[in-house]
Amino acid sequence: MFARNVSATLRQTPRFISKRTKVTLPELDWDFGALEPHISGQINELHYTKHHQTYVNGFNSALDQLAELTSSIEKDPNPKTSKQILGVQQNLKFHGGGYTNHCLFWKNLAPASQGGGEPPTGSLAEQIKQQYGSLDKLQKVTNASLAGVQGSGWSFIVKDLDNGGKLDVVQTYNQDTVTGNKIPLVAIDAWEHAYYLQYQNRKAEYFNAIWNVINWKEAAKRFENA
Ligand SMILES: [Fe+2]
Repeated sequence: MFARNVSATLRQTPRFISKRTKVTLPELDWDFGALEPHISGQINELHYTKHHQTYVNGFNSALDQLAELTSSIEKDPNPKTSKQILGVQQNLKFHGGGYTNHCLFWKNLAPASQGGGEPPTGSLAEQIKQQYGSLDKLQKVTNASLAGVQGSGWSFIVKDLDNGGKLDVVQTYNQDTVTGNKIPLVAIDAWEHAYYLQYQNRKAEYFNAIWNVINWKEAAKRFENA
């Protein structure tokens, strides 16, 4: 009886399901103004409601296009559709990266009242000490990476599973993210929209200030779970 029902359900399931659940903005654990004076409430509000929302919308749209094109090429394989599928890749990479990076970023930040800026403890603290000597040194290495972003990009502190789980600092451009065995522990946004309203051209000040609101508890959790 059960097997017959499953089989009937499968026969009725359309191959292309357009009404998928969309990605959405993540819930924030704090108010927009909670990271002041290090990151202004105005920046956080615009960053979240406008910039991140744009990546959410763009990613959903690219996923819809991909699903439609995938369904289409399954029915009628041809080079025109394959070219269109490749055309969607750039939007998937850009908006999917923007969506993912900002989700990491918000979770990486916390006001002092929620432990923001408090140094990590446990195995992450030990790993930092072993590799960099101190948290301050790791922050300096990360700041140098951020300062090296020409235009827009990100720097990530990662746990590199291809290198025995050691820490590394990785810089990417645009909304490129880290994937595979590089597990992001801390993601820092070096796009102008992340600091310009408050810091203007003094981006090094933003890179120094952000450590006051870095949520090392979240980073330690990611390190331990990877
Ligand atoms: Fe951003």
